Parts: sequence; C-alpha cells; structure tokens
Amino acid sequence: MTVGAIELKLDLHTLPASLRPWLDALPAAAETPASGFVLRFLEDRLRLQSPEPGLGELEIDLGRGQAGYRGARARNERLVRACGVRAGSLIVDATGGLGTDAWLLASAGARVTVCEQHPVVAALLADGLRRAGVAHPEIAGRIELLGVDSRLALSRWDQPLTAIYMDPMYPPRRKRALGDRRLRLLSALFAQGGMEGRGDDVAGLLAAARAAPAARAVLKRPQRQPLPAGTPDPDYSLEGRSTRFDVWRRADIGV
Ligand SMILES: C[S@@+](CC[C@H](N)C(=O)[O-])C[C@H]1O[C@@H](n2cnc3c(N)ncnc32)[C@H](O)[C@@H]1O
Repeated sequence: MTVGAIELKLDLHTLPASLRPWLDALPAAAETPASGFVLRFLEDRLRLQSPEPGLGELEIDLGRGQAGYRGARARNERLVRACGVRAGSLIVDATGGLGTDAWLLASAGARVTVCEQHPVVAALLADGLRRAGVAHPEIAGRIELLGVDSRLALSRWDQPLTAIYMDPMYPPRRKRALGDRRLRLLSALFAQGGMEGRGDDVAGLLAAARAAPAARAVLKRPQRQPLPAGTPDPDYSLEGRSTRFDVWRRADIGV
C-alpha cells in the first residue's frame, strides 16, 4: 500500500510512550510525496487533520453510542449476534477502521484481535484504545491491535476462532451514500494511496476469512450491495434497514 507522508506536529515530551511504535511505522517525509494530512498530539489525543475543507479532524473516541453498550445490551446487537459472541469468544476483526465494532464485540465479552492495515488509522486506533482503556480497562484489555494486512495474518492463523468479522470500505456510488464525515475523511486519506474509488478487497478478505480456522466468517455490507462475483451464498443474513450481516459457517470448527 502506498501511503503519502503525513506531517507530524508532535511534542515528544507529552506523547505517551505506547504511541511511539505506531508513529515510527509512518512513512518518512523524505521517502514519499506529501499527503497534505497533519497528525497532531494535542490535549492528550492524536488527531488527524484533513487538507480537504469540510472534512475537519479525525480522532477516535470509543465507548460512545452503540459502542458504549455493555453486557446484555451489547450481546443483543446484530453484529454481536452475527458473530455468535459468548463470554470468552475469540474474534478477529479483519478491518479495524475506527474501532467501533471491535469495541462493541469486546464489550459483549469477546477477546478481539483487530487488524488495521493503514498505519495512520492504526496509530489513531491505538490512541483511541489507550484513552478508552483508562475508563474501561477490562474492555480494552480484551482487545489486541495489529498493524497488519489481515489477509496475510489470516493465511497464517492456526488458532480456532469463533468468528472473523469484515466491514470493508465500499467504492462510493453516490456522494450521498458516503454518509458519516469520519468515513469520508478515511476515504480521503486512502485516496492518498491510490485507493480512491476502488474500496477494500472484499473478495480477498472473504477468501482469507473462509479459509482460516473460524466457525464463522461475517461480512457487513450495505443492504443492496452485491457480493463479489463467484462468492458462494452465505448460510444466512441478519438484515437491517440499510446494512446486512452475511454469515458463512464452518461445521468443522467447533468453537
Ligand atoms: C469501513 S472501515 C471499518 C470500520 C470499523 N468496522 C469500525 O467499527 O470503525 C474499513 C477499514 O478496514 C481496513 N482494511 C481494509 N482491508 C484491510 C485488510 N486487508 N487488512 C487490514 N485492514 C484492512 C481499512 O484500512 C479501513 O480502515
């Protein structure tokens, strides 16, 4: 993946040590073209500022809205039911993004390994988990973040999993369909790497998830979005107004 250089405005004296490795993973300005994005650490939080007017800043705050649900309320969420979460379930979230879904799964009692391939998003997510972990150490303690391509991680996975969850970015079909400002900001960031208009590799993610030792592969997608050509039908779907969770089961993995 090509990632344009991000301008860093960081006071190394105030930067938490746990964030240093994530920032060290960012491409050096001398090696890649400038992206126009600025990453700042201000008032105890990492913020990504977009060069596009109207998109503003992105910071990750976990534990609000649906992601703030706990216990029985969290377990009743469609995402949690689609993944078959019980206390102690093991989940790989193969498309970490803003971490909302991973946090909800962990709030319902699952141990979640989150993969995020984009180094800037991974750094923001590491910061979101660090801050949310102060108020909810038991939930944050169930989440492990890996800055990796999940397709590769899953090809090497040998531990039985309850579910692998995927929520890929889809190519925008209409401006209106872009929705959430924060996801539009992510799209603008990914456009720096030449990914604009292509979306994530849904077919590749699904193939990796279905080949890995997981009792379920779960794909979230917009209600009317077709599956990639050649994809077998899911075993079942949990439908909502605008999104659906498609579930493929593997009977040979008894988790
Ligand atoms: C729509 S966002 C996911 C949103 C997330 N479910 C949430 O609750 O915030 C998709 C994210 O998946 C990441 N992604 C896509 N393909 C990936 C892969 N193969 N490995 C790791 N991360 C991936 C993208 O970089 C992007 O940040």
